[in-house]
Amino acid sequence: MALKKGVDVKPASGKLGILMPGMGAVATTFIAGVMSIRKGLSKPIGSLTQMGHIRLGKRTDNNSPTIKEYISIAKLEDIVFGGWDIFHDNAYQAAVRAGVLESKHLDPIKEELEAIKPMTAVFEQAYVKKLTGPNVKKGTSKADLADQLMADIKNFKEKNGCDRLVAVWCGSTEVYRKPTDVHMSLDKFEAGLKASHDDIAPSQIYAYACLKMGVPYANGAPNLSLDTPALLELARKQNMPVTGKDFKTGQTLMKTILAPGFKARMLGLEGWYSTNILGNRDGEVLDDPESFKSKEVSKLGVIDSILQPDKYPDLYGNISHVVRINYYPPRGDAKEGWDNIDIYGWMGYPMQIKVNFLCRDSILAAPIVLDLALFMDFASRAGMSGVQEWLSFYWKSPMTPDGLYPEHDLFIQLMKLKNTLRYTKGDDLITHLGAEYYD
Ligand SMILES: NC(=O)c1ccc[n+]([C@@H]2O[C@H](COP(=O)([O-])OP(=O)(O)OC[C@H]3O[C@@H](n4cnc5c(N)ncnc54)[C@H](O)[C@@H]3O)[C@@H](O)[C@H]2O)c1
Repeated sequence: MALKKGVDVKPASGKLGILMPGMGAVATTFIAGVMSIRKGLSKPIGSLTQMGHIRLGKRTDNNSPTIKEYISIAKLEDIVFGGWDIFHDNAYQAAVRAGVLESKHLDPIKEELEAIKPMTAVFEQAYVKKLTGPNVKKGTSKADLADQLMADIKNFKEKNGCDRLVAVWCGSTEVYRKPTDVHMSLDKFEAGLKASHDDIAPSQIYAYACLKMGVPYANGAPNLSLDTPALLELARKQNMPVTGKDFKTGQTLMKTILAPGFKARMLGLEGWYSTNILGNRDGEVLDDPESFKSKEVSKLGVIDSILQPDKYPDLYGNISHVVRINYYPPRGDAKEGWDNIDIYGWMGYPMQIKVNFLCRDSILAAPIVLDLALFMDFASRAGMSGVQEWLSFYWKSPMTPDGLYPEHDLFIQLMKLKNTLRYTKGDDLITHLGAEYYD
């Protein structure tokens, strides 16, 4: 639905339930972080909704409120957490297992975390080959499983006295699949659910159930999930916002920071070799070639769309772009990425850049989950539905409305995000193109 200027946004009153299919490293780091911030023990570092400012008017106006003052978003105190997982571990046990946060951060919130127990998951081994778990629903068909998820959502909302819900998929990366006929319309998809069609993935059953229940849905993994005609049709029908795919965290974040810089300076790129070692459960799942394929496709798209080789053949017409992920258990969640970037300058002289990012995957992903949940709830209250392209900032593979190429440049994405917020408030957009020097 087209964005309206100066919309009336329903107030963020009451509790907001954030539902996560998949309660592993990312989900528990996010939950623990919010709890710690609520207790005044940590700061929301990395979160635009909590720390970002937005400039309004001319630079001489000196008016830059924080985003959370500017738009109506839910308060951290009003958030309730829930989710599903194929393991029975509560959020405390899952956080300890994930090994991201130290006991000095988990101990003060142990009881609160222990109270969050995963609901029984919809899971199919064929879609995540490396995992098996005991906490899995049984059903007579995929339609029956979707009904069970809808019942979970209804119960969660009632039990926790939530005013609104949003969902963010934090589950494992499913195997790479392209949409097939069953994904081409809502009718076909619903018939496929009843017939338990093999091509309907668990992540799609969650997306379907959430949208049916009026819950905005964000997909943090690279697999298709809601990025199909059928589920986008459902989102439109339900007037629900949707967004995805694949949280933009470590190496791809660096790519979308560096590549726009090369292009801005008209520097050529001959090759970009990226390799990672990763030892958490996500790394184990990605050790399966079919799950890795989903990730690879998501990671590879970025460079081409930023650099536009068709428009700049002399600079970017022949790039060798290679991405590798190796499962290496000793490293746990502390991923290490190496990038070797071969660039060239004036008269074609070659240069090299080496980036060695010792990052923490879930530490980078957690604030993204928070921002997405809060912005999706805002979008829903503002009457925004369909694909929320202004949230491309958060994604490795931003979903776009039909026929449009994704915008990957982090700085354009940020401008788009902030201008969308200004637009919904009826304020002037900031284009940095004003006729006056102080615009
Ligand atoms: N950490 C990052 O920086 C990052 C960045 C981009 C994308 N992602 C994606 O986010 C997702 C979560 O990452 P993570 O590091 O938390 O992984 P994780 O393995 O720690 O957690 C995933 C959890 O999902 C559960 N799960 C799998 N299938 C499920 C299903 N059908 N229903 C319910 N639960 C299910 C698993 O049991 C596991 O507990 C992955 O898909 C990953 O690729 C992570």
